[in-house]
Amino acid sequence: MRRLLLLFITATTTLHVAAQAQVPTYLNPKAPIEERVKDALNRMTLHEKVKILHAQSKFTSAGVPRLGIHQLNMSDGPHGVREEIEWNSWNAAHWTNDSCVAFPSLTCLAATWNRSLAATYGNAVSEEFAYRGKDIMLGPGTTIARMPLNGRSFEYMGEDPYLAGEMAVPYIKSVQANGVACCLKHFALNNQETDRMSININVSERALREIYLPAFEKCVKEAGLWTIMGSYNRWLNIHCCHNDSLLNGILKREWGFDGAVISDWGGTHDTWQSATGGLDIEMGTGTDGKTSDKSLGYDTYYMANPLETLVREGKISMDIINDKAARVLRTIFRTAMNPNKAIGSLCSETHYEACQKIGEEGIVLLRNNGGLLPLDARKYNRILVVGDNAVRNMSEGGGSSELKTRHDISPLDGLRAIYGDKIEFARGYYAGRALYAKAEKLDPDSLQKLHDEAIKKAKESDLIIFIGGLNKNGYEDCENTDRKSYNLSYGQNELINDLAKIQKNMIVVTFGGNAFATPWINNVKALLHCWYLGSTSGQTLAAVLSGDVNPSGKLPVTFAKEQQDYPCFKYGEEGYPGKDGQVHYKEGIYVGYRWFDTKGVKPQFPFGFGLSYTTFKY
Ligand code: GLC
Repeated sequence: MRRLLLLFITATTTLHVAAQAQVPTYLNPKAPIEERVKDALNRMTLHEKVKILHAQSKFTSAGVPRLGIHQLNMSDGPHGVREEIEWNSWNAAHWTNDSCVAFPSLTCLAATWNRSLAATYGNAVSEEFAYRGKDIMLGPGTTIARMPLNGRSFEYMGEDPYLAGEMAVPYIKSVQANGVACCLKHFALNNQETDRMSININVSERALREIYLPAFEKCVKEAGLWTIMGSYNRWLNIHCCHNDSLLNGILKREWGFDGAVISDWGGTHDTWQSATGGLDIEMGTGTDGKTSDKSLGYDTYYMANPLETLVREGKISMDIINDKAARVLRTIFRTAMNPNKAIGSLCSETHYEACQKIGEEGIVLLRNNGGLLPLDARKYNRILVVGDNAVRNMSEGGGSSELKTRHDISPLDGLRAIYGDKIEFARGYYAGRALYAKAEKLDPDSLQKLHDEAIKKAKESDLIIFIGGLNKNGYEDCENTDRKSYNLSYGQNELINDLAKIQKNMIVVTFGGNAFATPWINNVKALLHCWYLGSTSGQTLAAVLSGDVNPSGKLPVTFAKEQQDYPCFKYGEEGYPGKDGQVHYKEGIYVGYRWFDTKGVKPQFPFGFGLSYTTFKY
């Protein structure tokens, strides 16, 4: 019997080893990634290698079906996993199971100055990406806030490269620990949205190295970043998506980046430059409708058939193709074919808890005179909430970071949950729909009615909570457009002053991705800035206003008194938004507090500023 058993064990082990031996290395999840890459490369044809270097749909790049090598599924971030987009257009696919948790904006995360929260954020958001079957999250962003009107500041982490880097590293590490690649963006110098597709950035080597690159470098070297997104703009008059000096010189040779460079969508402009300029995956080059019954239009991409032709003509070496393909395969084996990739979860309690925790620690208390906060409801009978942002879903709009949320608690709902029918509401102003890079035409008469209604109700209130700021509309916090003014829009400044004349007990709560003028600051007793708080907005805000949570956020950007106080506006058009396609960063390293401190310009609220309900006495 024993002999029989021994025989059986030997036979099965031999079979098992033999079976293992038959699994090709690239498919063996236990094999080291570099061996899997090498083995896969050896098996792929030139056409298959070129095929994985570009999109096969709006948000996927190809795998190798013949060899069972997965495609790469990409999706926007960075504040949550975007709803499913149609295969071959920018339209939503209208799935019914792709609502997500919207997490706070990255500027809010930066305002927490809390590295472990950054890790919590990365873990939670990447669990949602994993559950939705995504391999690459298009985020986070560590573009430095050089110019306060930048429409995408809310997707980035402030004006200081050290803070941005320190907050991005834990986020990236925890996303990638779940087998989802981050795609850090936008590399590099994408500090404005105006003319973003073509503007050329003139910047000193010192400012480049000390201000604009360090956060990216830290993420490559300390977080082991897996992919990075080239930016639309140019540097040295060459598009950053295929810029040899930036991508091959600095990123790959100097920093040792071993992952894949992905173009921004439509950021690729030339086959030769893409081949020799360090691009690895070309995405979004005019795919809409670019298909024919014979073959997908994607084969006409710069890095598709045209590239293959150059190789066949001996003009581009196979070494270049093999290096690109290896980087893409490495990304596939790190994510889509990673045996330890998380299953993840969607809209789980822990994700909402993380959302609220990050928001609570990111809210910055900028003013609290007369101890109005924390709000003791027993002192008031009629609390009037005024403002469009009290009822607005601010996870919609803003461009590619837009999110379809399963639920989104508005500030008004959050306050009503605590203060009940003491809360009265007047919209006061209306911002229109969150259109992409456009502003809705609004009817002045109806706006005037909103204003007058708020004034009327203010006379019957004993406390006003104004909830306004920026929003995700075009020309506010929105991709592809910068704000037109440092002032709040929609007549908010006038409305706040008018309300303050009626009721001295006034708290202003603002949302927004960057600084703005606060000309009314001495007319109100309290100011709380919330950035964007995501799905639990109202709950998070109410927790801080009520004192359940002691505000501890600190500004990751300088709030200047006036727009002209920022250095980028000191040099006319050349300083911003640029002239003849050229913008000049003449302020050099003096960005944000480096300018205000060095030049002695007193800001309204300095970088790092933030109060709490605790009072201190020396
Ligand atoms: C957009 C953005 C980029 C985004 C990509 C895909 O143009 O610049 O941040 O990830 O296209 O939506």
